[in-house]
Amino acid sequence: EVEPLKERYEDSFEIGAAVEPYQLEGTHGEMLKHHYNSITAENVMKPINIQPEEGKFNFEEADKIVKFAKENDMKLRFHALVWHSQVPEWFFLDRKGNPMVEETDPKQREKNKKLLLKRLEKHIKKIVLRYRDEVDYWDVANEVIDEYASNDRGLRESKWYQITGTDYIKTAFKTVRKYAGEDAKLYINDYNTHAGQKADLLYNLVRDLLEQGVPIDGVGHQSHIQLDWPQTDEIIESMEMFAELGLDNQITELDVSIYGWPPTGAYPTYEAIPEEVHLAQAERYNELFQAFEEHDDIISNITFWGIADDHTWLDDRAENYNDGIGKDAPFVFDINFNVKPSYWSIID
Ligand code: XIL
Repeated sequence: EVEPLKERYEDSFEIGAAVEPYQLEGTHGEMLKHHYNSITAENVMKPINIQPEEGKFNFEEADKIVKFAKENDMKLRFHALVWHSQVPEWFFLDRKGNPMVEETDPKQREKNKKLLLKRLEKHIKKIVLRYRDEVDYWDVANEVIDEYASNDRGLRESKWYQITGTDYIKTAFKTVRKYAGEDAKLYINDYNTHAGQKADLLYNLVRDLLEQGVPIDGVGHQSHIQLDWPQTDEIIESMEMFAELGLDNQITELDVSIYGWPPTGAYPTYEAIPEEVHLAQAERYNELFQAFEEHDDIISNITFWGIADDHTWLDDRAENYNDGIGKDAPFVFDINFNVKPSYWSIID
């Protein structure tokens, strides 16, 4: 039995993992109980799964994760209430079934906006009233910044934005606060939050929202990173910037890909990944966790986007690219749940 990650870092921050319900059992389940004190649903709490059809909520899978967290005394991160992805299309259809984004009449557009915000409120209210006693951290809004957007504030031009402007973000946070109470912890979550321009765009938005009284408690930094990108310093600087606004920081979806972006130079099998790559990753993990530990006053939770190398969303990219993408190995446990050099590098 190796030392639990959560015990190694118990004085600094919680250690979490994102999971599918099937991973609550078997070896995955044992790993979860041994190493982690925080849990996130990798998919089953997203709108597409919770409310696939208007008014038809499906809590079965989400409940399993909530129950597991409770039974094992783990923190629970709810991911995610609003996102442009994995959201069912019905949200964005008007009462006649036409796409709201195509409406040109100003009066009808105003009605559509109201309807969409109402739907959002209902979605959030239902979930929050069900889980408010169990959820510790809410990912309220996910990926609302897009540094390539054509507007100068870098607001992602999703359907949410096209129909409501930034009102969907405000409504989401206010609705969670209203039903979850003052003690609930509300996060705005995004990727590449450490990359210069994107970090600034997110910072400006968050500062503006706070000034307008929108209840935000912290920033979730997804942190899908690579062996040498971004620099650890940039990661810390970004978190310090948000801490100065009085906000908490959480690393919400950590994985360290062994490939660059776009991924090339594939290894044909997991076993073919050279030892030097595992060692380079261990160096990277070591540097990261050392920096996290040094800044544990501004970070409350570090969640990996998976448990072990057997299951990682990074492998889904192989279906999108045909240029020889290999199996990725982003975690500190290998495909057989054994510890990797990366494990030792964050334990010692
Ligand atoms: C990913 C899941 O891991 C995949 O299983 C799913 O097919 C797509 O979504 N940013 C997020 C997460 O906020 O919700 C995403 O999760 C990964 C990127």
